[in-house]
Order: sequence, then structure tokens, then C-alpha cells
Amino acid sequence: MSDFNNGREQWGSRLGFILAAMGSAVGLGNIWRFAYVTGESGGAAFLLIYILCILAIGIPILMAEFTIGRRAQSDVVGSFQEITPGKPWVVAGFLGVASAFIILSFYGVIAGWSLHYFVQYLSGGPAIGAEGGFADYFVAFHTGTFEPLLWQFIFMGMTVGIVYVGVKKGIEKANKILMPLLAILVILLAGYSLTLGGAQEALDFLFTPDWSQLANPEVYLAALGQAFFSLSLGMGALITYGSYLSKKDKLPGAAVSVAGLDTLFAILAGLMIFPAVFAFGIEPDSGPGLVFITLPGIFDSLGAGVVFGLLFFFLLSAAAVSSGVSLLEVAVAYFMRRFSWSRQKAALIIGFIIFLIGIPSSLGMGALSGVTFFGRDILDTMDFIASNVFLPLGGLLIALFVGWGWKKADALEASDFGDTALGNGWVIILRYFAPVAIFIIFLSSIGVF
Ligand code: TRP
Repeated sequence: MSDFNNGREQWGSRLGFILAAMGSAVGLGNIWRFAYVTGESGGAAFLLIYILCILAIGIPILMAEFTIGRRAQSDVVGSFQEITPGKPWVVAGFLGVASAFIILSFYGVIAGWSLHYFVQYLSGGPAIGAEGGFADYFVAFHTGTFEPLLWQFIFMGMTVGIVYVGVKKGIEKANKILMPLLAILVILLAGYSLTLGGAQEALDFLFTPDWSQLANPEVYLAALGQAFFSLSLGMGALITYGSYLSKKDKLPGAAVSVAGLDTLFAILAGLMIFPAVFAFGIEPDSGPGLVFITLPGIFDSLGAGVVFGLLFFFLLSAAAVSSGVSLLEVAVAYFMRRFSWSRQKAALIIGFIIFLIGIPSSLGMGALSGVTFFGRDILDTMDFIASNVFLPLGGLLIALFVGWGWKKADALEASDFGDTALGNGWVIILRYFAPVAIFIIFLSSIGVF
């Protein structure tokens, strides 16, 4: 397979593509975001809806994104224009580019925290005072002004660096090595965490649903938003990655592998984090700091914990980079085509702008903590708008586009399903089920019923 196709870059192999898509999916969303959103949403009932969202809405839309990208061989905006020229579907593309700016802006803040912890473990772990535990350490660090910004800047620099080098040499290589390592470490840590004494409570919390939670409409939106976020769905990251694929590969298998692995990662992360939450007496709904408080506690209680801390935050940061790369690539691919910028120029300029957009999210923890919208701080607000509004809306448009905007036979052929029962089921989900489900979840969360 050649590296270029009509002047566009291509993945080196089908495996390389799958690993890159997994690298995009597996990131802070599986560990940091999954843990705190599950904690805030009450555990098992949320987890159940989350998994249903992945199966019934996530995987079909994931397939839709791969299919659009590979057929159109263009960036997220160009893809809609290529398949249905002159039609309004292209708004989904612009929504995607906007989402990339918003998500990466706050993603960089959290990834910066992870890098900071990694570097702390290089010199023996976070230095906690005599009385204050890891919670106090975290508060002192993340409410600061310059340090978190510095780490956010370094993270953005790494992300820009990889996108600068290019799709194949940058993204594909790193994922092949780092993903399996992270998986092994999470399994080891989950095994250890389950011996901590909070295991039974954690298992109940994660797997015994409190059905009364189902009466809360916000749980559904939180689950849908988490499903989209974790699978990197709804904004064309996977359209863009699909566009670097040659015509020959089989898509449905790739979509199921990516979603399956991503979900497994999240559940393992839950098994790693929640036993510690209960063993250390931390509230499950303590918010975005959850992993930064519980995990150092786990490492502290472990012989050779510093080594585990070091490895863990290294791999979490690496997973964040491979996800950040997929976010940046959406915007970079668009600006390269639309404005004929070089890859290098686009990566540098857009990366820097996204860093600037992220600054208020970071300062919202400390200096700007008085600024809230409906009780959410700045980062939370950015996350809510992107994950719970833009991504599901983008996903809705993508489903409608493939279901209605595209001729059915063309879509089936482009997807590799062909005119099979599975393929027809997929189209029915995209035509009716997914759009209606997303619409109802939206309406219920804003209190329509
Ligand atoms: N899925 C990644 C995570 O779980 C984050 C991410 C990467 C993302 N690309 C995306 C989220 C595109 C939404 C859309 O950390």
C-alpha cells in the first residue's frame, strides 16, 4: 500500500488504522472522565445505559463515520461536500471542526495534570504535607495559575509535534507500543485495587443497579455524552481517520473491535478506581479530581508504588496524546485542504489557538473559580456543551446523513456490509432508532418530559 492516494496520506496497514482509531478512543475519557461521570451518575444504572448507548447507537454511528471517511477521502467538511455536494449536510462538518477546538481545549488541561503527576513520580511521587492527603495536594496543584498552564502547554506541544510529523509515522507507530502496555498496567492495578477492602462496595456500586436512578433524565444524557466522548464519536475524528484508509479493508470488524476495546478499558478502569474510592473513604461523586486523588492513594499503599505511579501516569499521558492527536487532526485536515496550508503550518497555528482557548478552563479551577454557568465551572461548561450537546447533535446528523441523505445501495456498498441483513439493520438503526433515541434523550434532559 502506498503512503499517498491522490496526494493524501494513507495508513500503513489495516492494523495500523485500527490501532490509531483505538488510540483515539482510549484516553482520558476511559479513565478520568468515565470514573467521575460514573461516580456522579450513581454507578451501575448509569453503566448499564452507557453500554446500551454504545451498542445501539455508538457502534452504528462509528460504522457510519468510517464509511463516510473512506468513501469521501476527505476531511470532515470536505467529506459531506464530496458525497452530497451543495446540500446542507455540511453543517455537520463545521460542527465537528468546532467541537475539535472546544474538546481539545479542555482535554489539554486534564492531560496537563496527568503529565504533572508523571513528573512528580519521577522524583518519588507527589509530596504531600504532614496532614493533608492526596486530595489537598491535588487542590493546591490544580487551582494554581501557572503550573497547570505550563503542563497544558507541554501537552499541546507534544500533540502538535505528532500531528506535525504526519499520520503514518507519528500516530500509527506510537499506538502500537503504548496501548498494549496501558492495558496490562490497568489490569494489574485493577487486580490489586480489588484487594483493598473497598472491593465489595465497588462491585455493588458498579454492577448492582439502583433502579431509581433511571427516573433521572440527566443520567441518560450523561450516558449518551460519555458514549460519544469515549468512542471519539460525533465530530468526524473517525471520518478523518477513515479517510486515510484505502478502499480494500473491512470496516464492520474494525468498528466492533474499537468499541469493544474502548468499553473494556473503561470497565477495567472502574475496577481499578472504585475499590480505592471506597477503601479510602472518598465520595464517588467528588468530580473531575477523582482519579488524581484515588490513584496516588493506591500507589502509596503499594510496595514499589512509585514505579507504578510513574508508569501509570506515563501511559495515561500517552493515551491522552494519542486521543489529542485525533482531535487536532480533524481541524488540521480541514485547514490544510480549505486554505492550502501545509500540515506543519496548520498544526502549529491551530495547536496554539486551542491552547489559548483552553486557558480559561484551567484558570476556572482557581483564579477564575467564581465564573460558573448553571453551577458548572468553565471546564465543565466546555465539556458539557461539546460532549452532551455538540457530539450527540453531530452524531444525529451523521446518522440522518447516511440513513436518508445517501442512497441506500451506495451506503451499503461503501460500508462493506453490502445488501445483507446486518447491513439493512444498520441502515434502519441510522434512519430511525438512533435519531429518535438521541432526540428523546435531548428533550427529556431539558425537561420536556
Ligand atoms: N475518546 C477520547 C477519550 O476517551 C477523547 C477523544 C479523542 C474524543 N477524539 C475525540 C472525544 C473526538 C470526542 C470526539 O479520551
